[in-house]
Amino acid sequence: MVVDVVAAGLHPRVRSQADGSHYTSTGQLPLIPGMDGVVRGPDGRLRYTILDDTSLGTLAERTVMDPDRSIVLPKHADPVLVAAAMNPAMSSWVALRRRIDFKRGQSVLILGATGNAGRMAVQVAKKLGAAHVVGAGRNTAALEALRRLGADEVLPLDQLAGAANVDVVIDYLWGEPAAAGLVDMISARKRRSDPITWIQIGSVAGPASPIPSAALRAARLQIVGSGIGSVPGRDWLKELPKLVDHVTKGEFDVRARAVPLKDVEQVWRTNTDDRIVLTP
Ligand SMILES: NC(=O)c1ccc[n+]([C@@H]2O[C@H](COP(=O)([O-])OP(=O)(O)OC[C@H]3O[C@@H](n4cnc5c(N)ncnc54)[C@H](OP(=O)(O)O)[C@@H]3O)[C@@H](O)[C@H]2O)c1
Repeated sequence: MVVDVVAAGLHPRVRSQADGSHYTSTGQLPLIPGMDGVVRGPDGRLRYTILDDTSLGTLAERTVMDPDRSIVLPKHADPVLVAAAMNPAMSSWVALRRRIDFKRGQSVLILGATGNAGRMAVQVAKKLGAAHVVGAGRNTAALEALRRLGADEVLPLDQLAGAANVDVVIDYLWGEPAAAGLVDMISARKRRSDPITWIQIGSVAGPASPIPSAALRAARLQIVGSGIGSVPGRDWLKELPKLVDHVTKGEFDVRARAVPLKDVEQVWRTNTDDRIVLTP
C-alpha cells in the first residue's frame, strides 16, 4: 500500500541502518532510512507501521508498506507521540512478553534506564506486573527522575551489587559496564542457584562485552538477546495492538520532539533526551 508518512521516529536503529552498522544492514543502496512510523493510507485512516527489511523507509513524504505489518490507530491518536514511543517501548515489551517467561511479581533491573528505551522499560515492567524495578545508568541526575515513572530504586553503574538479587536484567548498555556490573551482581548474589535472566537489547556502551566465563558457572545465569531475529516477526506484530492501545491512551510518559523532515540534516547527529520525530 502506498501511504503518506505523517510522523517517523529518528531511533538509534534508523541512524545505524543509514550508516550500515546495524546487524541487519545489507549495504544495499540507494537507501531511504526510517523503519517505522505513522502513515495515512488511501482510506484516510492513520496507521502505525513497522516496515519489512526494505530500502524504502519512512523518512520520506510517501512510502510503501504491507498492511499486515500495520495497525489502524484510533482517531484521537497523536501521531508524533506514537512515532516516538513505539520503538523504544517495544524493546522491553516484546522482551518480557515474548523472549522470556516473565512472571508478575518478579524484580527487574534496567541497565541504561535514562535513555528513551530505558525510561519506557521502567514503565513497561511496572505495567506488566514487576514487583520491584531498579533503574541504573551513568547519569545520576536523570536517574532520580525515574522514580516519578515508577522506579522503586535507582543505582549508578558502579553500585549494581545493590541489585544483585533481581530476577531479570534488561540491558541497553552491553560493553564494559555490563560485564563489570554482571560480575559485581553475581559476586553479591545471596542465592546463586536462583535463576537470573539477562536480556541483551541495546549496546550503547559497546558492541562486545568481556564477560568472564566464571560468571556463567558461578550462578544460574542465562543471557539471551531480544531483537529482530531472536523474536519472530509474527510475535512482534501480535504485540502491536496492546501496546498501541496503552500508548494512545496516554499511559506512558513519552519524550517527543517533532521536527520538519526538511530539517533532518540539522538534527541527524543531535544528542537530545527527546526522541526526534520527523514530520514531512
Ligand atoms: N533490540 C531491540 O528491540 C531494540 C529496540 C529499541 C532500541 N534498541 C537499542 O537500545 C539502545 C537504547 O535505545 P534508546 O532508544 O534508549 O536510545 P537513546 O534514547 O539514545 O538512549 C541511549 C542512552 O544511553 C545512555 N548512554 C549512552 N552511552 C552510554 C555509555 N557509554 N554508558 C552508559 N550509558 C550510556 C545515554 O543516557 P545518559 O546520557 O542519560 O547517560 C543515552 O541517553 C540502542 O542501542 C538501541 O539500538 C534495541
